[in-house]
Amino acid sequence: MRKPFIAGNWKMNMNAASAVSLASGLVKELEGVDSVDVAVCPPFVYLQAVAAALSASNIALGSQNVYFEENGAFTGEISCDMLKDVCCTYAIIGHSERRHVMGETDELINKKVSAAINGGLLPIFCVGELLAERNAGTTNDVVARQVKKGLEGICDERIQAVTIAYEPVWAIGTGLTATPEQAQEVHAMIRGLLTELYGKDIAQSLRIQYGGSAKPGNTAELMGQPDVDGLLVGGASLKVEDFAAMVKTVA
Ligand code: PGA
Repeated sequence: MRKPFIAGNWKMNMNAASAVSLASGLVKELEGVDSVDVAVCPPFVYLQAVAAALSASNIALGSQNVYFEENGAFTGEISCDMLKDVCCTYAIIGHSERRHVMGETDELINKKVSAAINGGLLPIFCVGELLAERNAGTTNDVVARQVKKGLEGICDERIQAVTIAYEPVWAIGTGLTATPEQAQEVHAMIRGLLTELYGKDIAQSLRIQYGGSAKPGNTAELMGQPDVDGLLVGGASLKVEDFAAMVKTVA
């Protein structure tokens, strides 16, 4: 049985006060919920304040990015140790906005996934096709390439740290959600690929989240799919009532 995992990606939103108030609101609303793993991923500069607000709760903390080097002359970057120092458990890696706005490649993302695992963080490794790729019928090829390249060199022991997030780019922040069937089809393809790479037992144990305009109203139907094990939530994770409602629906 895979435990459901709902993570909030706050992206470049919030300020110090609203970040703490969102975190505190979630702690209150989600008290006693332990059948779902929950994490929030604030901007780097608010991690420490949010960690303090979450301290007495089951809600975990994650970053939205991480660099693969341990330390040194990498201006503007943040290492695994720094993130662990401010209580991060997870790191989102390869989000579509990193891939398509910041130009991150499969190779760079692979280095980050590998470094995060070695550094003791749990990667939320994101993949997903563009609208043009879906329309051209290449969704499975694109996502399979991203999964294979992103996980290159990650052995059976290390893969257990990873959550995969399937996020069709055309569904992110657009209000267009993949239908439950569209999500399930790609999730099943990813699990099949993981079976080829790591064998059935490991593939069955790995969690695959869906992301892309997930909200309270579509949580139940998405989570009702056999290979959808959780959600990576953007917009709807910025409101206590919406994110808490999603977690409670799953719980
Ligand atoms: P969205 O973002 O829920 O606002 O579509 C999801 C994501 O980018 O992780």
